[in-house]
Amino acid sequence: MNDTKHIWRVFLLVLIAIAAFMVGRLLFVPKTFGQFGHYRAANVLEQRAFPVKYQGAESCEPCHADEFALWKNAGHKTIVCEDCHAPYDSHIKNDEKFADMEINRTADFCLRCHQKLTARPEKFPQVNAIEHLAEFKMELTDTVCFKCHGPHDPTPKDPIDKTVTPKTIKELKPK
Ligand code: HEC
Ligand code: HEC
Ligand code: HEC
Ligand code: HEC
Repeated sequence: MNDTKHIWRVFLLVLIAIAAFMVGRLLFVPKTFGQFGHYRAANVLEQRAFPVKYQGAESCEPCHADEFALWKNAGHKTIVCEDCHAPYDSHIKNDEKFADMEINRTADFCLRCHQKLTARPEKFPQVNAIEHLAEFKMELTDTVCFKCHGPHDPTPKDPIDKTVTPKTIKELKPK
């Protein structure tokens, strides 16, 4: 018997290791793991219960048809409303407005996407703000872009400041 003792000892160690593994598995593998496949089945329900924050531009159309129509046919149509404003769910609850929608009216905001940078694709519309404004003898102030550009149709033909018209822009811009 004495000469097989070391074999039993190894056998016992292996048994203990297997038992420890089984107990560990019971403790750590989530309950619904493997119910339908190699994943935790309850995760599907958790993902489904996640509140939807963004709803896309179409979700704004029923209440803001004018802005939507202007935007849809103009240069910013590739930017979803919520990119410039804020998520749908910060503004609408149960199909009604419950809080103001964010609006950023600063030049900084436009320049985040349009300041001339070597890293931007050449074809992307971009300006050196100081030089662009100097063409019109203007200086960079917080709301200056809106004198000539609207946000929904950014071409200067729809400026917010109605005293600035395509004609006065032409006069302002020496060429
Ligand atoms: C490029 C950024 C940008 C995008 C894209 C954009 N907006 Fe705006 N929006 C603005 C800014 C800036 C103002 C504030 C303009 C002003 O001072 O009149 C504004 C104003 C508004 C207003 C308030 C208008 C008013 O007269 O008070 C509404 C409503 C609105 N946007 C809806 C939308 C909807 C709907 C879309 C998508 C179809 C959209 N916006 C896309 C930047 C954007
Ligand atoms: C169920 C209707 C409804 C929907 C949907 C809706 N809005 Fe509004 N929104 C309103 C009302 C009402 C006002 C306040 C009166 C107004 O300016 O027309 C408003 C105002 C705004 C304003 C001006 C700031 C303010 O809060 O008064 C902006 C900007 C705006 N909405 C953007 C959006 C965008 C972007 C979406 C889509 C993500 C959207 N809205 C979806 C009803 C809606
Ligand atoms: C989130 C990024 C973003 C913001 C913020 C933004 N723009 Fe744009 N803008 C774009 C993109 C993208 C285009 C379309 C580029 C293209 O056609 O390839 C564009 C196009 C334009 C154009 C050219 C329009 C045309 O029809 O050729 C002008 C002018 C412009 N934007 C001005 C502005 C002004 C002014 C603001 C601030 C109110 C602003 N943009 C805010 C991304 C942005
Ligand atoms: C006095 C009017 C005026 C003001 C203020 C103004 N712009 Fe412009 N912008 C124009 C005109 C006009 C054009 C048309 C292109 C041209 O003739 O230079 C233009 C063109 C652009 C373009 C398109 C450039 C291209 O390569 O297609 C962008 C982007 C732009 N402006 C961004 C801005 C931003 C950002 C501001 C604020 C810092 C601003 N603009 C302020 C009048 C103005």
